[in-house]
Amino acid sequence: MNTRIPDESKPIIAILTTSDKRLKFCGNRSNFRDIIRTGKELGYLVYVVTVRDLKLEERFINGFIPSPSGKQWYSIPVPLPQVIYNRVANREKEELKPVARKIAQCLEHPDIHLYNPYFFNKWNLFEWLHSSRFTSKHVPTTRRLRSPGTLTAMLKNHDSLYLKPESGKAGKGIMRLKYLADTALPYRLQIQTGRKNVTYKTASMERLWSRISKEKGSARYIVQQAIDLATHRGRPFDLRVLLQKNSRGNWGVTGIGARLAGARSITTHVPRGGTIEEPSSMLEGTFSTERAAAILKSVPTTALLMARQIERASEYRLGEMSMDLGVDHNGGLWFFEANSRPMKFDEPAIRKLSLERIFQYCQHLSQLPK
Ligand SMILES: Nc1ncnc2c1ncn2[C@@H]1O[C@H](COP(=O)(O)OP(=O)(O)O)[C@@H](O)[C@H]1O
Ligand SMILES: [Mg+2]
Repeated sequence: MNTRIPDESKPIIAILTTSDKRLKFCGNRSNFRDIIRTGKELGYLVYVVTVRDLKLEERFINGFIPSPSGKQWYSIPVPLPQVIYNRVANREKEELKPVARKIAQCLEHPDIHLYNPYFFNKWNLFEWLHSSRFTSKHVPTTRRLRSPGTLTAMLKNHDSLYLKPESGKAGKGIMRLKYLADTALPYRLQIQTGRKNVTYKTASMERLWSRISKEKGSARYIVQQAIDLATHRGRPFDLRVLLQKNSRGNWGVTGIGARLAGARSITTHVPRGGTIEEPSSMLEGTFSTERAAAILKSVPTTALLMARQIERASEYRLGEMSMDLGVDHNGGLWFFEANSRPMKFDEPAIRKLSLERIFQYCQHLSQLPK
C-alpha cells in the first residue's frame, strides 16, 4: 500500500453511498477501491461513507477504507469531507427520506461541496435538450406515454417506436412497437425480458394498450421515435461517451466507447448479449474510413453541447455524466439518454483517465466559494 501522507492543500473526499445490514455499505466495491487507490497515489485522503455515518454536525465520522489486500474494509474515524462524490446506487435509495434529506443538507452546507446530487429522468432530459436550439436536432421526437392516442399519433409519423420507463436503466422495461400495414396483425410489440425478446401481435389498439399497460405497471413511460441506426454486420450499435469536468471546472470528453447489440436484442446492453467494441471499427461497418473518422470527430463537440445544456437546465452542479448516442445512416447523432452515475468504462485508457479526472474536478471544486 502506498503510504504517502495526504497533502494539506488537497481536499478530503468522501464517496457517498447507503448502508447495508449485511455488507455494511452498498455499491461497487471494486470501483470504490480503484477510486481510493487513485486518490492515494495523487495524495488525497479518500474514504467511503454511508448516508447514516455522514454526521454533518460532528468533526470526526466513520469512514471505510480497504485493507492493503483490498479484500476487507475497515471502519476508521476520519475528518468530515470537503468534497462528496455521490455514488448512491439507485433511485429507490435516493428517494428514501433520510437519504434525500442528507443530500439536501449537503447541498446547503456552507463548507461541503456535493455534485451530481440526483439521477436523471428520461423525460426531463428530453425536455432540457429539446428546449435549446443547439441540441434539439439531436433528440428523437418524444412524448409522455399516457394514452393509446399518443401511440396512434406517433405511428402516423414514425414506423417504429421505443417505449421506455422514465427512470429505467440497463434496458429494463424497454419495448419496441412497429406497425406493419397490410398484415393481419399489424401491431408488433417487442418486449425485452432478460436476454429474451417476446413479440406480441395484434390488430386491435385496445388489446395492444392493455398489454402495454400490463408490462408497464405503475411506472411512467416515454414513447420515442425509433432511430434507424447504423449497423455492423447487421447489428445496431451505439456510442457511449464519458464526459467529466477537469481541473479548471470545464467539461471534457474522457473517452468514447461503442456497444454492439446482441443478436435479436433491441438494445445494446452487455448483460443482454451486447459487446464492447471500438467506435471506429463500428462506424466503418456502415461508412467509409474517412466518413467514419469525420463522424467520430463530431461526437465530442455535440456531446459537450448536450452536457452543458443538461447541467444548465438541471440547475444542479454536475461533474460527470455518461451519454448513450445513436448514429443514423447519414452519420447524424442522436441522444438516447445520459446517466449521472456513470458505470465504469472497461476500456483501460478511459478507465484510467476517468479515475484521475474525479480528483482533478474535486480539487477545483474545493477551491470554489460555496
Ligand atoms: N429512440 C431509439 N431509437 C433507436 N434505438 C433506441 C432508442 N432508444 C433506445 N434505443 C436503444 O436502446 C438502448 C437503451 O436505451 P436507453 O434510453 O439508454 O435506456 P436504458 O436506460 O435502459 O439504458 C439504447 O442504448 C439504444 O441502443
Ligand atoms: Mg442506456
